[in-house]
Amino acid sequence: MSNITFTMIKPAAVADGHTGAILAMISDGGFKIKALRMLQLSQAEAGAFYAVHRERPFYTELVESMSSGPIVAAILEKEDAVQAYRDYIGATNPAEAREDSIRKLYGKSIGDNAVHGSDSDENAIIESNFFFNTMDRF
Ligand code: CMP
Repeated sequence: MSNITFTMIKPAAVADGHTGAILAMISDGGFKIKALRMLQLSQAEAGAFYAVHRERPFYTELVESMSSGPIVAAILEKEDAVQAYRDYIGATNPAEAREDSIRKLYGKSIGDNAVHGSDSDENAIIESNFFFNTMDRF
């Protein structure tokens, strides 16, 4: 169990103007922002980030949407951060997500589900390293 997780606010949620509200919900949930960046992924970078899903039928669509506009990437700290954040954002499919969860409030579809959250401590480290240098972390 680690106290770090990684999140991205996805392009559709950023484009729809939900960045501030989602960051506020993250803070209100007791997650401390340790690093923060706004950037646009290339298709190659989005493909590399989601390489674990390469064989899945939704991979091309996922890469397309994740590189379609700017995202906001962050490292979050809380006790048992990976599980706590997954609980907090709700189910992958916004239609099935808990009421008042980030994905229920701001997700539009399973692909445009507002935010990504790491699924393991190991991936939280890999994903944080994908976006942030040591000097970008606080
Ligand atoms: P995320 O937490 O970013 O991790 C992988 C992403 O793949 C997931 O959120 C969804 O946005 C996307 N995804 C998972 N299953 C499907 C699906 N059946 N159709 C489209 N996208 C999916």
